[in-house]
Amino acid sequence: MQTNIIKKINLLKEKRRAIILVHNYQLPEIQDIADYVGDSLDLAKISHTTDCKVILFCGVRFMAETAKIFNPDKMVIMPDLHAGCPMADMITAEQLQKKKESHPDAAVVTYINSTADVKALSDICCTSANGVKVVNSVKNDEIIFTPDKYLGSYIANRMKNKKFYLWSGYCPTHMVFSKEGLLKLKDEYPDAEIVVHPECRLEIQGIADAICSTSQMITYAGKSKAEQFIICTEVGMLYRLKKENPTKEFIAGSPNAVCPNMKLSNLEKVFWALEDLKFEINVEESVRQAALKAIEKMIAI
Ligand code: 13P
Ligand code: SF4
Repeated sequence: MQTNIIKKINLLKEKRRAIILVHNYQLPEIQDIADYVGDSLDLAKISHTTDCKVILFCGVRFMAETAKIFNPDKMVIMPDLHAGCPMADMITAEQLQKKKESHPDAAVVTYINSTADVKALSDICCTSANGVKVVNSVKNDEIIFTPDKYLGSYIANRMKNKKFYLWSGYCPTHMVFSKEGLLKLKDEYPDAEIVVHPECRLEIQGIADAICSTSQMITYAGKSKAEQFIICTEVGMLYRLKKENPTKEFIAGSPNAVCPNMKLSNLEKVFWALEDLKFEINVEESVRQAALKAIEKMIAI
């Protein structure tokens, strides 16, 4: 049954001249049909250079918007329009505008996990992989960082010469890890390294052996001498980690770290999206151009 639908998806992909971009948190069966699987930075860069007519984005809305920002002439579609990101929705353009007015000398650095409207009001974007590098490239002494206060704190703690105004957004999925739970796991797997996403709380970052974006986790696990890793990010990551490092063992830092939005894609919805060319993502042109500037500045670093 699954092979049948995969065959149909591949035929439709050819017919539509489509490529399928998939975030590391998607379900295994979606990762397996991808042209590319990656973190936000990988996928933004790939969508920028790819040759196709249609981009089917399996991830959340802000990621598909980023693909559209780079590819105004291509059709960008998603398997499910309801796949939003609660963190991205924790700040609106109006709120950011007000914040900018109260700190006129500050540069606005915005995590890629944000809406196009918020990116458009920002000086530069960053991802969880390049935040420190990005803020280092900014000349201003004051930084408004949006929307994730934990990624913002991670960067601020490595940059003593700048004043940060952190927006108070956060990712609900990355809130579920507890220090007690992790120390218990560490008792069970004493040789395991704890690998943590910077969207986690500072207490969790504090006991990490490594703090990485999702794709950096793959490189880290490959290079490390350790054989076991306790992974503190969305559970979809474990499938990708195991696929890339089959001899190593990956343990979920919490089985509850599930992003419900990331799990909205399935093979049937991928098939329907390609068949009906829905659900299309569009970004208003003036917003697109302003957001593109902030993303391109980041990519140039
Ligand atoms: P990265 O894949 O860029 O590390 O982002 C994690 C995330 O939460 C995406 O929603
Ligand atoms: Fe948003 Fe968190 Fe889900 Fe990522 S894991 S899409 S930041 S809610």
